[in-house]
Amino acid sequence: MVEQLREPLEESAPLGRRLAGQLCRRDPASGDSCAWCHGIWQYLRLMGLAAAPEHHADFYRRALQSTRGAGAAPRVLVSGAADYSMLAHVLAIYRESGIEPAVTVVDECETPLALSRWYAEREAASIECVRCDILDYTASTEFDAICTHSFLVQFSPEQRIRLLQRWRQLLRPGGSVITVTRIRPGAGEGRAGFSPEQAQAFHATVLRKAEAMRERLQIDPAELAREAGIYMSGQRPWPVRSREEILQLFERAGFRVDELSDAPSAAAPELLPNAPAVPGSGERVQIIATRL
Ligand SMILES: C[S@@+](CC[C@H](N)C(=O)[O-])C[C@H]1O[C@@H](n2cnc3c(N)ncnc32)[C@H](O)[C@@H]1O
Repeated sequence: MVEQLREPLEESAPLGRRLAGQLCRRDPASGDSCAWCHGIWQYLRLMGLAAAPEHHADFYRRALQSTRGAGAAPRVLVSGAADYSMLAHVLAIYRESGIEPAVTVVDECETPLALSRWYAEREAASIECVRCDILDYTASTEFDAICTHSFLVQFSPEQRIRLLQRWRQLLRPGGSVITVTRIRPGAGEGRAGFSPEQAQAFHATVLRKAEAMRERLQIDPAELAREAGIYMSGQRPWPVRSREEILQLFERAGFRVDELSDAPSAAAPELLPNAPAVPGSGERVQIIATRL
């Protein structure tokens, strides 16, 4: 079962933190870097505080298994990845059936690409990594599937239309987008974020868990809680507000939505703060859409 996929997070979390300091992309206009996310993301995952592909492994497995390539090896595009997790799932799922997929990972930041290369090398997989804004990305051969997690909320509603157009151009007819996204009914037009109460609860949880997991995390809990503070200011998703919005978005871009199902709530062994990108917070949906 892919649910049992053991990702080497204890090894890659310190690597990601170090790489983020060296490689994370600076926004040319603001000078801000995305190290606030890429540096701490895997520590948050180790503490069970970051929603990632592992929480929807059954869905990705089912969706990818029904996606066979037009050629011998399915061509899969991982469109945005905070680390190597989506790649790890794609590889494991296909390899279960003895298939070696041809995976390309595109991200605008070098850090997730470096982590993907690191993982691919461990797994003796040959992958392609491209640092590029997905809205500008072109490929010489069409993909059979585009796989990503929590990516739609990185884009404003206007940009999302361009994203879907780009994905359509990148897929072969019959190819699919496979993704999971959070739905925020009743959210406003602007970006979401941590409320002061959520921030307080998240900070306290990071501190408590980092203390409890000190041996495993090998990092000063106070330092991790400080970095979590920076992470919370940076985590500002553009809300997707309804299933209808998703249907419209895909259908208007030339896709048929084959599945728009409720994602099972990530089983949390304990109560986690209700906050952005935390597993079990809010509603998430699983989407499979075919390019017409
Ligand atoms: C896929 S998402 C969310 C994380 C996700 N839950 C996961 O587990 O991978 C975040 C990634 O998208 C990337 N990203 C955001 N906007 C992008 C864009 N326009 N083009 C390419 N990558 C982008 C960021 O650099 C980040 O690594």
